[in-house]
Amino acid sequence: MVGPCVFISRSNLPSIIYTELNKLPVEIRMWKETGPMWGKQASPPREVWIDVFKNCVGAIVTLGDVIDRSLLNEAEKLFVISTYSVGVDHIDVKAATEKGIYVTHTPEVLVEAVADLAMGLLIALGRKIVLGDRLVRIGGIYDKWGWLLGTEIHNATLGIVGLGNIGTALARRAKAFDMKVIYWSRTRKPHIEFALGIEYRPLESVLSESDFVVITIAATPETRHLINEERIRLMKKTAYLINVARGDIVDTNALVKALKEGWIAGAALDVFEEEPLPSTHELTKFDNVVLTPHIGSATYETRERMAEIAVRNLINVLMGKRPLYLANP
Ligand code: DGY
Repeated sequence: MVGPCVFISRSNLPSIIYTELNKLPVEIRMWKETGPMWGKQASPPREVWIDVFKNCVGAIVTLGDVIDRSLLNEAEKLFVISTYSVGVDHIDVKAATEKGIYVTHTPEVLVEAVADLAMGLLIALGRKIVLGDRLVRIGGIYDKWGWLLGTEIHNATLGIVGLGNIGTALARRAKAFDMKVIYWSRTRKPHIEFALGIEYRPLESVLSESDFVVITIAATPETRHLINEERIRLMKKTAYLINVARGDIVDTNALVKALKEGWIAGAALDVFEEEPLPSTHELTKFDNVVLTPHIGSATYETRERMAEIAVRNLINVLMGKRPLYLANP
């Protein structure tokens, strides 16, 4: 007898997802990418989703899958969506909750990996590592001792925008590098200030006082373009902006203008308003910009743990148990 179906929206997720689901009396339906393996283009077409929402009980999705209200309205049998990500901004969680659909995600396990990347981007920017690599490959630069001068990391001020788990893990790293750490968050965290020796500031002061500003805040409708033209203008000319959270927290047009006109010293971005970022995008033209393709959680260990949690979340809901991490309010 074929059981109810469970959908997996990518064929290249860690194998634990398939092995665990295979132990259940369910039919596993998997979308096999026909084009790119990443981003929205790799997501199944709408007609496939509609069929899934009508006929399957659960789905494992990625952050390239946009699950909006119109799709959720098609749900007949589906009652759990497990996303293989911490972010749930690609899912209309409010609409899902109204429909009685569980939305689960994978926080905590990717905190250290994303904080590592943020620290790596910070150092890469400050010490011009990526530019240096490019120049070595071209050759003949070793006599020019007056260039490729960077900014010291120790004693510099790091401003963290959003002191959640990732922001806190980054603060810990920065303290080990002898940085001064200030932060702004929607909720002030006195216990973390005390434990790590960091200081709270209004957002405007974080921007104006920092040598490195790192965005780690969660994406919500309220944080869209939080870092806009007016706020980028508050930053020092010598300061760097780093975003490892979500692309639309930074107004890309304002950032491009800032880089063109030299309001800031540079930027490092792991996330973009449009993903994948087109290779011809203006951001790719700047030497003082480091770009990575949304690899915050991309370590073997973290992705394996995310997969374990994603499948456990889904199975728990299917079995009538509480998932490990529920995103519904
Ligand atoms: C997530 O899981 O939401 C992260 O952005 C992955 O890097």
